[in-house]
Amino acid sequence: MNGQLIIVGLGPGPQNWVTPAASEAVGEADVVLGYAPYVNRLTPRTGQIFEASDNREELARAERALELAASGQRVVVVSGGDPGVFAMAAAVYEAVEKNPVSASSVDIRVEPGVTAMLAAAARIGAPLGHDFCAISLSDNLKSWATIERRLRLAAEADFVIALYNPASKARPEQIKKAFEILATVLPSETIVVFARAVGRADEDVDVTTLGRAADALCDMRTLVMIGSRATRKVQSADGRSWVYTPRSERER
Ligand SMILES: C[S@@+](CC[C@H](N)C(=O)[O-])C[C@H]1O[C@@H](n2cnc3c(N)ncnc32)[C@H](O)[C@@H]1O
Repeated sequence: MNGQLIIVGLGPGPQNWVTPAASEAVGEADVVLGYAPYVNRLTPRTGQIFEASDNREELARAERALELAASGQRVVVVSGGDPGVFAMAAAVYEAVEKNPVSASSVDIRVEPGVTAMLAAAARIGAPLGHDFCAISLSDNLKSWATIERRLRLAAEADFVIALYNPASKARPEQIKKAFEILATVLPSETIVVFARAVGRADEDVDVTTLGRAADALCDMRTLVMIGSRATRKVQSADGRSWVYTPRSERER
């Protein structure tokens, strides 16, 4: 029997944001692997094996998943959000590139999930209505010089910028450096959104400006979104407000 390896996105939190296809893949797996907080969101059925590991072990986890699948098992690797966005799907294809022989008998596919950027956008309105990009601020797998260059060029190109991994215990200050770089290009009134733990009980979404952003609290569960020059607030007559970016370049 051919093995199966499905890399599954569990979305940013709530169960009703997990697609039926993702739930089906998890339900049918013999083995489920992933970073412990994601695996812990699931309940194993009888006979199913769950293997939780640390988030720094992504390639080792991918190689183990490929090995199990090559031995004929139905294997699922879970990620939060979408597995293709700064997550396990790329690690699995790195393992495939290293070991194409193991991969040859395995049915490999990705089941998408709602990525944090889309969940955060939905909470505040429509900030991604025009062109946008996503940048991870983590310098584990790339240099800080690369990150600085991408931030500057993205701001110059006037993209809305979604920042993943904006801060961690080991990197508490980099987000402030990022704001300093962006401020050399963008006006201080540029809209900045801090979307923390979207979809969780402790969700907190704050809308501020680039001029005030350095004071905001930000951690590894936060998605930071920097508006383009066209991103703005819109208000209803009864005082409610949203953030959106007009679809047309002419609406500036
Ligand atoms: C390693 S990346 C994984 C991204 C994930 N694959 C996705 O598609 O959302 C982790 C980063 O995603 C963002 N993130 C993940 N879940 C989030 C949530 N519920 N609320 C806000 N940001 C979240 C944070 O920026 C966090 O540092």
